[in-house]
Amino acid sequence: MKFKGEHILSTQQFDKEGLMSLFAEAKKMEKVIAEAKNGKESKVLAGKIMATLFYEPSTRTRFSFEAAMIRLGGRVLSNADMMQTSSIKKLETLEDTGKVVSQIADVIAMRHPEQGSVAVLAERSDVPVINAGDGSNEHPTQALLDLYTIWKEFGRIDGLTIGMIGDLKNSRVQHSQFGLLKHFKVKFVLVSPRGLEMPAAILKEMGSAAKVVLTPEDMVASADVISVSRIQKERFVSEREYKKFVGQFVVDAELMKKAKKTAIVMQPLPRVDDIAVEVDSDPRARYFDQVGNGVAVRMALLKMVLGE
Ligand code: NCD
Repeated sequence: MKFKGEHILSTQQFDKEGLMSLFAEAKKMEKVIAEAKNGKESKVLAGKIMATLFYEPSTRTRFSFEAAMIRLGGRVLSNADMMQTSSIKKLETLEDTGKVVSQIADVIAMRHPEQGSVAVLAERSDVPVINAGDGSNEHPTQALLDLYTIWKEFGRIDGLTIGMIGDLKNSRVQHSQFGLLKHFKVKFVLVSPRGLEMPAAILKEMGSAAKVVLTPEDMVASADVISVSRIQKERFVSEREYKKFVGQFVVDAELMKKAKKTAIVMQPLPRVDDIAVEVDSDPRARYFDQVGNGVAVRMALLKMVLGE
């Protein structure tokens, strides 16, 4: 696959070879980060500007994109609350915003609550646009850093069993994880509260590689990777509807007793009643390491997209 000059909108764009070249670059970026911390800053993206257009809340993803750009010597223009303080308030279309911002910045990272919205903005942008999450559809860079975390841990992805637990219906992260994992020989074990099952289209694509189980215990018994998502509150019609699901399945020390010794627990974060704090001290917890890996992966992606 080609990276230079491309919009990164969906995991569909990736192939195995593209993933491996990105991971190799991310590995080098871990060294660049270490050097920067010692005062030797990279100039790979000096002179380049990234605009972050976030129409939906974020802590990690926006900071991670911005840190990635800064670590490579680039600069950042940021509007964290596009819904409230951008020209969308004056009814500017996403297409026009895309055209305008692309006259100013060299690359755009964008998050928006509606599925497909990032693609709409990208259509008129003259510079690459990277999807930082569009509704419950996709979150490709999170999935990239998740697979990078798995690859670093096991040295391979083929042959692993991926357990997924949580709001499989609405988690754009788990949808995107599948979008990348389908290039590998993996098995899936899925467990979710009733009503929050994996969308039928994804289940169909998983085919015989997927097993749906009824309890978290049945999932952890065979999982090498335990991929957790929180119940995605903002995708529910009401607080009442959300409350029906939250706290039903919790990954806690008791559950971890039944998991493989070599398993890892991943969560894009934030967590909300889905992983007990006691699991943080379990050597299998990887959710904070994922955050650091995310900066390296986004550095690699920015470098490759900007063609430096
Ligand atoms: C995820 C998201 O925004 O989809 N968070 C993140 O980017 N790290 C997961 C979530 O919000 O549950």
